[in-house]
Amino acid sequence: MTGTVDALPLVDESAPPPGDLEAFSEWLAAGGDVELLKDAPDPYRDVLQQTIAIAADLEIMSLPLLYNALLNAPDVEARIAVAASIQDEMGHAQMMFRLLEEFGVSAQATIFGRGPEAYKSFYILEHGCDDYIEFICMQTYGDRAGYITTVDLAANCSFAPYRRSLAKVNFEEKFHFRHGEREIRRLWEKRPDLRERIQATVDWMFPLAVEWFGVTDDRKSRTGQLTYRIRGHSNDELRQRWLREATAFSESVGLRVPAHYDQEADAYVLDYRLPVLFDEATKTWDLTTTVEWPAKFAQWKRGGPRKLPGVALIQGQRWGAELWVA
Ligand SMILES: [Fe+2]
Ligand SMILES: [Fe+2]
Repeated sequence: MTGTVDALPLVDESAPPPGDLEAFSEWLAAGGDVELLKDAPDPYRDVLQQTIAIAADLEIMSLPLLYNALLNAPDVEARIAVAASIQDEMGHAQMMFRLLEEFGVSAQATIFGRGPEAYKSFYILEHGCDDYIEFICMQTYGDRAGYITTVDLAANCSFAPYRRSLAKVNFEEKFHFRHGEREIRRLWEKRPDLRERIQATVDWMFPLAVEWFGVTDDRKSRTGQLTYRIRGHSNDELRQRWLREATAFSESVGLRVPAHYDQEADAYVLDYRLPVLFDEATKTWDLTTTVEWPAKFAQWKRGGPRKLPGVALIQGQRWGAELWVA
């Protein structure tokens, strides 16, 4: 079959000439969409590249995150669910690295040519999901956090190719957290003997997911993503959406979480004040002690215990044609 349907434009006819940053910013603010990177000024490209590069690293980090949950799945249905999630995340990584090629970035060099410590992942992905309960909790709280971030990008990002590629990502992320919720509810009701373990997992994972959205808005120094309409909402706005949905779900099941609805503020609020520190050895939080942000940044920078082994696992695998050598 020949002919094209809804052919994409090869040039942004309405875009201001590259180099005129002010005109470009005004054009973006008026709803302009970038189709081709060559039409975009360097500062815009830099913020966009950084955003996609972090997204790509996060997708790669979700592969080793789920590795033990795959090995320890209690039955074949559970193993299929974990494998499907891993496969989806692999597809997301592939999509992000395809976009990064537009910036001249090589997936091979980025995944295999860097030391594990150079990966820019998020702290929640650096502790592992070692069994099926941790996996469904990660889907419920972690994948939902990812979904809220990427839905915002898909709705607002001024780089149209990124928006379009996120449609499939978002469909799959939604499937992940819906699956997690359904499984938590099912086990909570059918297996009262597992309730304590589910609650214990949520106790350490919930505050990690709160941290997915980064520093609070009053501390955020880099605002390029909002200025260039790469994102539509701030850290605190996205965190609020997550808090509302995650808390409402937890309460509907009977799970305790350190957050509640505040009538006066007409918002969901945490029962503690950010930032707080996680004790990796005991997997517990000291929610009563608010620390200074530099202490939190240091914890994030050091990375969780599974970050380096996780990347090493990915980099040490045999890939591609090598897999077929007897
Ligand atoms: Fe993903
Ligand atoms: Fe996911």
